[in-house]
Amino acid sequence: MNTPDKGKKDLTPVEISFRDIVPEIRDTTYLTHSIYYYPAKFIPQVVRFCIKEFTKENDWIIDPFAGSGTVGLEAFLTKRNAILLDLNYLLRHIIPIKIYQGTQEHSKNGLAKKIQEVQEEEDNFVPKYINVRYWYPDEIFEVLSRYWAGVHKLDEDIYKWIIQASLVKISKQFSLAEHRTPKLFRSKFKKRYISELMQTDWKRQLDSKLFQNSYKFYDSVRHLQHVTKGHDNEVRCYAGTDSSTFKLESGRELDALTTSPPYLQAQEYIRTSKLDLFWLEYTEKQIREISKLEIPYRKAERIIETYTLNKIREKIENDKLVRILNSYFDHTIASLENSMNLLKKDGKACIFVGNPKVDGIEVETWRILTEYFTEKRFGFEIVFDDKIKTRQLFGARKNKNPDGMKSEYLLVLTKNT
Ligand SMILES: C[S@@+](CC[C@H](N)C(=O)[O-])C[C@H]1O[C@@H](n2cnc3c(N)ncnc32)[C@H](O)[C@@H]1O
Repeated sequence: MNTPDKGKKDLTPVEISFRDIVPEIRDTTYLTHSIYYYPAKFIPQVVRFCIKEFTKENDWIIDPFAGSGTVGLEAFLTKRNAILLDLNYLLRHIIPIKIYQGTQEHSKNGLAKKIQEVQEEEDNFVPKYINVRYWYPDEIFEVLSRYWAGVHKLDEDIYKWIIQASLVKISKQFSLAEHRTPKLFRSKFKKRYISELMQTDWKRQLDSKLFQNSYKFYDSVRHLQHVTKGHDNEVRCYAGTDSSTFKLESGRELDALTTSPPYLQAQEYIRTSKLDLFWLEYTEKQIREISKLEIPYRKAERIIETYTLNKIREKIENDKLVRILNSYFDHTIASLENSMNLLKKDGKACIFVGNPKVDGIEVETWRILTEYFTEKRFGFEIVFDDKIKTRQLFGARKNKNPDGMKSEYLLVLTKNT
């Protein structure tokens, strides 16, 4: 097993500001990055930095925790290919619009006609979710369920993807679920907000948001098409996939990995997307199945041992927290290793992580991963320390210091053999 620093390379983090070092990206929500909301997204500057630094045109990059597909979009913009894996089915609906590659003729008028079709729908779509009415007043539910029936009848094309993205957003805004934070719960604030809204012409507001969002997304997609004209790289998306058991059919060697694993104690991605997923026709059973695979809800099957992790384990008194820690490192490492084994020799793995606190003890995730992987077929390259400004996590709207963390780290490892 590794001793703390084991000589060789200096493990001291190098300070960096990804926002400053990638000045060509001024706005984290540029182009189609923010069409879909997703918690704990990468800032695109981190991904752009990894791509520019460690890959070249037409390379293949894998992200085993792809979330909303930030790596996919940045890869496509810079003429790289990407393989995106995530447990969350939402990725399947995000990618066609976020990385639109179609050649279909389209116009704002065409979009407006499709929105009208949706508004005139008479059938209802009722999500296969016992509790769905808990989240909506009856009148709002009735309108949404007609609109969703309309969306589900549309052809699979750019118009549908845009209207769907817009309706996902509205279905949260007009629900009793708090929409200012990612976590799914009914808040007093939201209850009051919705009951006041219902005293107004809420239906007209809902309709106008449907148009406004859709037009805004339409403009973003047009802009994306403009800047990616002539790009023909592939973005392969495997949603609903557990990245620890994923197998790539082609046997191709990949050039790099860029990813940000789930946070140690903020693991609620599927729950966060639950309402969206029900409206998108997923069943309770399907959602339960993927929730069970979410890190770190699963039982650890092996205990990962590294110098730093063992020290932390010794200090934690609460058994439940030790179980979470064990599960987290077992499954996070399993997913990373599974994808990292697909890298070619000298391929780089760029892993963006925080140092959360468990029981008041700082868990140096990047160091633990370094200790684990340098015992395998990987070498330590460098670790960057990026001081946190703001990042939207689960707890609050803009959390200046998530999990008590002051920095996030980009660990870079190299495949040796
Ligand atoms: C920090 S988020 C990634 C966000 C992403 N970088 C982005 O920019 O949108 C971590 C992701 O890991 C996913 N995840 C959790 N357990 C997983 C597993 N076993 N296999 C694949 N993905 C998993 C979650 O669904 C979540 O989307």
